[in-house]
Amino acid sequence: MAADRRRTKAPAGARPSKSARPLPTPDPPPVAEAQWLLCRWCPARVGKPALGSRRRRQFGYKIVLATGNDTDRVLELMQRTFFKDEPAVVGCGLNPSNLSEDLQRYMVGDLSAGKALLAVDGADRLLGVCLGGEVTKDSQQKLLQKANDCGDERAATLLRFWAHLVQVSRLPEVLGASRSWEVEKLATDPAARGRGIAKELTVQSLALALQKGFPTVCVFCTSEFSGRLCRSLKMRHLVDFPYSEYRDQHGRQLISPPPPHEHVNIYGDDLRAGHTSTANKSKAKVSTANR
Ligand SMILES: CC(C)(COP(=O)(O)OP(=O)(O)OC[C@H]1O[C@@H](n2cnc3c(N)ncnc32)[C@H](O)[C@@H]1OP(=O)(O)O)[C@@H](O)C(=O)NCCC(=O)NCCS
Repeated sequence: MAADRRRTKAPAGARPSKSARPLPTPDPPPVAEAQWLLCRWCPARVGKPALGSRRRRQFGYKIVLATGNDTDRVLELMQRTFFKDEPAVVGCGLNPSNLSEDLQRYMVGDLSAGKALLAVDGADRLLGVCLGGEVTKDSQQKLLQKANDCGDERAATLLRFWAHLVQVSRLPEVLGASRSWEVEKLATDPAARGRGIAKELTVQSLALALQKGFPTVCVFCTSEFSGRLCRSLKMRHLVDFPYSEYRDQHGRQLISPPPPHEHVNIYGDDLRAGHTSTANKSKAKVSTANR
């Protein structure tokens, strides 16, 4: 695992080295390992209590699949949380109240695509959100295109930074798959933090990826806290990227988040491995009833 950890320099706008060659796609691990993978994330699938279920009961929340009807309340939560205190957003000086509606909606994406999960309390109040996405070979280009079109210099810096992270992650080579499910945006209502909501959302999002047949998963942890979360889920640590290395051509640091957020840590994992035989067992415990 240590061999997978890479610290990368970030010359702004640099292209990957031409000498970098994709690693051969690893053989799928045996079924026993796949079950262990599920066991790490989703103990419920192998007959133990679900990760976080004790906390879920204690604090009374459930995880549900988002629909298009949730867009407004998700946007409202993102305005109160992600756009206000996500370290990379804060670090690029983006003013959430100046963020155009178009950009906000772009960042939230299409909730009817069946990739976003919500944590809601007994009165259906929204406590947390986890937007799932996909990293493919086109992701970097799409982000750069959006950066050029968005008409907001700070938002463009953020989008270019995300594009840069996709580039340095070299996910297709490192994970040996052309597409990866991404636990893309994670946010918990400040009043509901520290109850394991983000962790439970992440676990359920990973299980959803498995259900949807994604070969691999990844999380770009721009926050120290989401990094801790992935570490505690024992995901594979792929990249440690210090914010201080992302600079413009004059050497100025472009993203300066508040402490303790000094690094972006990228985590991933492989879902192959007899996953057709284990996917049914691992169905995400996501409620779609009455929605
Ligand atoms: C990051 C965030 C989603 C965590 O939400 P949460 O529901 O409080 O997280 P959890 O209770 O599931 O805790 C997850 C892990 O983070 C750690 N953590 C969370 N907040 C923490 C804090 N303020 N101080 C120290 N550790 C913290 C927890 O200890 C836990 O680690 P563990 O698994 O080793 O116990 C939330 O702080 C947030 O919305 N931040 C703003 C948006 C953001 O930064 N998103 C992440 C971008 S990748």
